[in-house]
Amino acid sequence: MESKYLMQSKYLKYKNKYLNLRKKIKYLVGGNILLRVENSRRIIERLERIELTKCINSFKIEDKIGSELIEIERILGSGVNGEALSIILKGPEPITVAVKTIPISKNDYDNFTRYRDGIDVISPLAEIKALEICTQYVFNQKSPHFNITYKHLLCNNCKYVDEKVQNLSFNDVFLETYKEKLNEIKKANAIKEGNSIKRGYKIKDIQQFNNIDEHIIDQYCIYIFNEKADGDMSNLINDTLSFNNLKIYLFQIFSALNLCYIEDEMSHHDLHSKNILYVNDEYNDVDHDLYNIVIETDDKSNRETIPVKLPLNGKMLRIWDFGKVNVQNRIHIIKSSYFRENKRERFSKDVEKFLGNGEGGLLDNQYINSNREFREFIEAIRQKYIENGYYNLMKYLIEKINEINVTCVTERNKYNFL
Ligand SMILES: Nc1ncnc2c1ncn2[C@@H]1O[C@H](COP(=O)(O)OP(=O)(O)OP(=O)(O)O)[C@@H](O)[C@H]1O
Ligand SMILES: [Mg+2]
Repeated sequence: MESKYLMQSKYLKYKNKYLNLRKKIKYLVGGNILLRVENSRRIIERLERIELTKCINSFKIEDKIGSELIEIERILGSGVNGEALSIILKGPEPITVAVKTIPISKNDYDNFTRYRDGIDVISPLAEIKALEICTQYVFNQKSPHFNITYKHLLCNNCKYVDEKVQNLSFNDVFLETYKEKLNEIKKANAIKEGNSIKRGYKIKDIQQFNNIDEHIIDQYCIYIFNEKADGDMSNLINDTLSFNNLKIYLFQIFSALNLCYIEDEMSHHDLHSKNILYVNDEYNDVDHDLYNIVIETDDKSNRETIPVKLPLNGKMLRIWDFGKVNVQNRIHIIKSSYFRENKRERFSKDVEKFLGNGEGGLLDNQYINSNREFREFIEAIRQKYIENGYYNLMKYLIEKINEINVTCVTERNKYNFL
């Protein structure tokens, strides 16, 4: 065993090295779209050059991958479906990126490339495809409110940094026990709804599998390299939130959802505050961004373009986590039934979930719910959607943004739907 002193000195050595490295890192400027795109291209090139002979979470602090060194900085979030890490790509210009790790079964791992071009796909593939669409929205300056994705990778030797997540993975002993348990359940015909056996699967799902082994999630996973944010929206909803900032946040999110709706009929289906990331938005000498918002009625009979000056409030929100996405005629997650519903209903799930009082919904938040002005505003937005979809919702939000009394003089970015 190492002595306490030795451990401490190792820790200090590591800490100092880490702090020096941090100083060298250039941060992405949250709202400077051109800089963001430029940085992303650089990062994509760098990731392409990395010869990934090893899986990411098997690299230790000093591990070498091709000519680059990668260092795990910290865990950004974790749960039954994997973890999100922040990692540093070292080199003359160190840079931090985020990586989301999603476990998959051997079967899905083996068939991943074959599935790539299909419409009916597994959730991680749907997520990757949706993220590619969103990345193009940012690159084409249609909206800044999506997290750029750089690259995805398959790994057959995943280990999770978060021990809790790692311990959830199947080993042979667990598998045998589990098979026995499944047989018992089958015999007794007793299905316990919601009883989670392992990552992502419930007993009732597993019972449908003919060959259990094919679906066992063991050491296989997908990495999605993406822009690192400063936190998620749940961190922003507290007693420092002003009414104007709430309006600005909601405009940012709904302008992005409206874009997904009009351009690709893409719905998110898991929109809550933890699936919306934010970055601290640094800017000098400018006070607004210009958005040209296109709104359209469900039947497409009415289409308008409205310019909006959005005051900058120091935070830039980005929609994230597309694990339940649906894109009309292009991306359907196997077994999901969202695409069968009518258009208004399908998109209302995003509005209802995000604004509603279910877990992570805005009205679920104590602070928001106890403020009458906030509550009424959110209710009004929901009502506008019920009346005439995103067309009325956006009109209302734009009206509210225009009421914010600031002298918008200097413009920074222009976002154009078309
Ligand atoms: N790029 C990022 N930058 C900063 N924080 C992040 C990033 N990605 C994820 N996080 C943090 O980690 C949390 C979990 O990430 P994410 O939503 O991608 O996975 P998940 O919810 O566990 O997975 P899923 O819902 O697909 O099962 C987020 O709520 C956020 O707080
Ligand atoms: Mg999430």
